[in-house]
Amino acid sequence: MKINGQTAVYGIIGNPIRHTSSPAIHNHISEAMGIDAVYVPFVANDDLAAVIPGLYSLGVRGLNVTVPYKSDVMEYLAGVDEMAGRIGAVNTLKYTEKGYYGYNTDILGLGRELDEEGISLKERDVVILGAGGAARAVAFLSALKGAASLTIVNRTEEKALGIKKDVSAYADIKGMHSLAENTRTLSLDMIEDLGGKDYIVFQCTNVGLSPRDDECVLNDEAFYKKVAVGVDLIYKPAVTRFMKYVEDAGGKAVNGLKMLIYQAVSAYEIWNDVRVPESVVSDIERELK
Ligand code: ATR
Repeated sequence: MKINGQTAVYGIIGNPIRHTSSPAIHNHISEAMGIDAVYVPFVANDDLAAVIPGLYSLGVRGLNVTVPYKSDVMEYLAGVDEMAGRIGAVNTLKYTEKGYYGYNTDILGLGRELDEEGISLKERDVVILGAGGAARAVAFLSALKGAASLTIVNRTEEKALGIKKDVSAYADIKGMHSLAENTRTLSLDMIEDLGGKDYIVFQCTNVGLSPRDDECVLNDEAFYKKVAVGVDLIYKPAVTRFMKYVEDAGGKAVNGLKMLIYQAVSAYEIWNDVRVPESVVSDIERELK
């Protein structure tokens, strides 16, 4: 990589940030596509009122935003994309003349992963395990893709209720009244109350993340018999305990690696107005594996 006086600077802000794979992905794309850009990690302090205008003044062309700033950063932007506004979280900022504009490419990334895996949410019954930021994005994606029902299962049911309220309101606005009516919450310890079958389940908690590979948020065998497809947003380890349970019960399981790659690719495409070729995406996937 050659850096000169015209090299465009991009980066990621968060805290902590040392485990991020984003610099490797973005710099790989720039090199593969011959684009004069560099992507660096910025460990931010909590003073976003100084951090965001500071990076803007320095002309940083685009930023990814990660934990814990995905929501707090929104008040320092010139505007946000409709879906990011509804989710209440942004992970991608694009430099514009008026300031940074915010997007949520986590949701775009997951949508692209599902398309590639041939997993359609249309008319499907979706279960979401967890009620944090990732779960919220998946809930909106499910509505966007025309799911028939949505059940949000969380240890703290109150947080699931918050997502239910916002997704139901969105579904009503979009004329999806049946989904609004069929959005429910369930406390994790009441999982045996879940009827039905053939669910598409998204594992959106951080339980099972390396090095706690052997853990899973839900160990109830009867539950996994109702799962047709299990998507774990975790990608380290590559096969989580949740995925093993799904596969052992005869379902299809995928991890969150492609979601990670595609959220980066989508950000790259928003910033540079290009289409990243599939061959470059495959190279990145091979490297990260
Ligand atoms: P993210 O933004 O990545 O979604 P988060 O907002 O910290 O992360 O959310 C983590 C999710 O994992 C929450 O749903 C959390 O449950 P609570 O809302 O009850 O805290 C869930 N979670 C974390 N540790 C858990 C555990 N040991 N058992 C069950 N759920 C857990």
